[in-house]
Amino acid sequence: MRISNPIAFILILTFCSCGKDETDQKERFINDLISKMTSMEKIGQLNQYSSFFDVTGPKPTRMEDSIKYEQIKSGLVGSVLNVTGVREVKAMQKLAIENSRLKIPLIFGLDVIHGFKTICPIPIAESASWNLDLIEKSARMAAKEAASAGINWTFAPMVDISRDARWGRVMEGAGEDPYLGSKIAVARINGFQGQDLKDSLTIAACAKHFAAYGFAESGKDYNTVDIGLQTLHNIVLPSFKASAKANVATFMNSFNEINGIPATGSKFLQRSILKEKWNYKGFIVSDWSSIEEMVAHGYSKDLKSAALSAIKAGSDMDMMSSAYINYLNNLLDEKKISIDIIDDAVKRILSVKYDLGLFSNPYLYCNDVREEENIFNDRNRALSLDIAQESIVLLKNDANILPLKKSGLKIALLGGLAIDKDSPLGNWRAKAPKNSAISVKEGLIKYNNNTVKFQKGPKLFKNPTFIDGHLNVNNTDTSGTYSALKLAEESDYVITVLGEHGFQSGEGRSRSKIKLPGLQEQFLKEIYKVNKNIILVVMTGRPLDLSWAGKNLPAIVVSWHLGTMSGEAISSILYGDSNPSGKLPMSFPRSVGQIPVYYNHKSTGRPAPSESVFWSHFSDEKNDPLYPFGYGLSYTDFLYSKLNINKIGTKSIEVNFNVKNIGNRIGKEIIQLYIKDLYSSYTRPIKELKRFKKLSFKINEEKNVTFILNKDDLGWLNDFGDLIFENGEFDIMVGGSSQDYIKSTIKF
Ligand code: BGC
Repeated sequence: MRISNPIAFILILTFCSCGKDETDQKERFINDLISKMTSMEKIGQLNQYSSFFDVTGPKPTRMEDSIKYEQIKSGLVGSVLNVTGVREVKAMQKLAIENSRLKIPLIFGLDVIHGFKTICPIPIAESASWNLDLIEKSARMAAKEAASAGINWTFAPMVDISRDARWGRVMEGAGEDPYLGSKIAVARINGFQGQDLKDSLTIAACAKHFAAYGFAESGKDYNTVDIGLQTLHNIVLPSFKASAKANVATFMNSFNEINGIPATGSKFLQRSILKEKWNYKGFIVSDWSSIEEMVAHGYSKDLKSAALSAIKAGSDMDMMSSAYINYLNNLLDEKKISIDIIDDAVKRILSVKYDLGLFSNPYLYCNDVREEENIFNDRNRALSLDIAQESIVLLKNDANILPLKKSGLKIALLGGLAIDKDSPLGNWRAKAPKNSAISVKEGLIKYNNNTVKFQKGPKLFKNPTFIDGHLNVNNTDTSGTYSALKLAEESDYVITVLGEHGFQSGEGRSRSKIKLPGLQEQFLKEIYKVNKNIILVVMTGRPLDLSWAGKNLPAIVVSWHLGTMSGEAISSILYGDSNPSGKLPMSFPRSVGQIPVYYNHKSTGRPAPSESVFWSHFSDEKNDPLYPFGYGLSYTDFLYSKLNINKIGTKSIEVNFNVKNIGNRIGKEIIQLYIKDLYSSYTRPIKELKRFKKLSFKINEEKNVTFILNKDDLGWLNDFGDLIFENGEFDIMVGGSSQDYIKSTIKF
């Protein structure tokens, strides 16, 4: 071990030699360090800035950057975000280590959301794979790449549950279900953090955004959240609780207010629930300037009182508000806060730095050789392809139009997204080079016994492509349509690649209309007039309203934004070299007016259709979504049978059943188990996912599956977040989607 921090070296030696176990050593090391720190040095550890850099290194060019520069040198900064690359990170770290009194290393954060340079499918797409092992591997690969470029902290996973397809950030989450969301959160955390954070190829993760950011009113980003305690405890918090239990190193709070209090200033969330009830020992970073934003919320009078509320509420690190560095010392002098509250925050931050191995070697993540070897290599691209194939969801396949024959066909490939090498990288693409994805057109080249001709059709965007950060969608210029239609008419099949550009979803990208943007649906209707053999490939970062396509087209494939290997994954599915196995982690609405539409809703007092108009429904729309949670087709079929349920003791059950591949291809099935608590002292959803398993089946293979459910699964959380289990009756449903299952009932 190379130790380049002399103070740390002496401290570590002292504590190693006394023979205490690792936790004890760490505790003593940190306490000792804290005892040497001035109050300003402590406050400095709570301060985080975004990078400033020029080609020669961390040189300030603007006034605000020179302040940051001097502060790093004086030990008044704890972390920097958005610096990447071994050379850059090393230079920044050197500033702190070689100039500050106590030589406390910085931690380097970045949004490594679905890959660093090798890009995997966007999180909602990966979630559609329901393959926890692959999801973990994808995060592990992202961690390795990022760590090889100097990063040791990612602001991921985003574990926000959302029921609103208008919200652009659904692309970054795991969809609408708390159980699936919790499992995916843990898989991602394990992937990023590995077994040991000190391993220089693992990085600290961050469960965000605490809490309820996905419940913004009308799906408008940063908007007000007003939800009841039942939704908070049973829907929003489980994925965060699972993250805390999985030892996620950090949490990030959120921009939204919740029930009248900005999350960043919420003592209830951060202290009472996270740090006290769940006994969480990591630290909480604010979201970008969310401390300062408490002024705009109308919660804090000024930045100083925002700093006071945030620190009291338990927000440990200030990202980009400069509230702590400017005001905590005054607040200490004025006795508005005690040093204990600061010590607690510092301790949490130093503890993560210790766990990352930064006190032993502040340059642990700065190794140029690895940067070359570990990033964007063949192994990583192969993994990205595997997960991309499993993330694709086949929504419709009338008369088995797919998979396509491999020879003798004339195929028209239409739509600008078919040649787009950038959009598939999606939003939050870290350091992916522009245009580094394989396009659908490139992916199809391999299948060269068919004739594939391409026409773009009408443009998706006008020039300039971006206005104020938003894509300038083309709603008027139909040029390009005629030649595309001519080609469609002359072809046997039409593969149309439509949907959202990679930057049409993500932060700040809420949409009030969720149909195919621009002229795309109109274009689709025109194609349909000349050739009905249309295979629609939908690139998207959110569920879209595909009602027209769902009613009229024979085949719909949701490819989301699949990352680096997009085109190869899509073409392998279209030709059947890979059998689709993804299922929706979020319902696809029939229209925007149905939102929120989600599978685990409550029953009303008037749920069933009746002859009068007085039942819970729309007069102009069905109640159910177009494609429900858990739904997705395969090129083979599965039969569920022999459902058997037995009680184990007084609060657990064993559920046993068979699943058989009755089609003529090998395939993977995502086997889902739902429960319904028929009556209880709090109303429960009409269905709740409680277990799932993704299994491979040979042709004709039948497997026996057993799930055990216990009181945690059969109970629910009351308004204090405590588990309640009541005797009663439960429907147990097993099947291939939330709307397709066999069922039996059990009584306690
Ligand atoms: C986002 C966070 C992100 C942070 C740092 C914020 O705008 O809400 O999710 O981690 O920026 O980039």
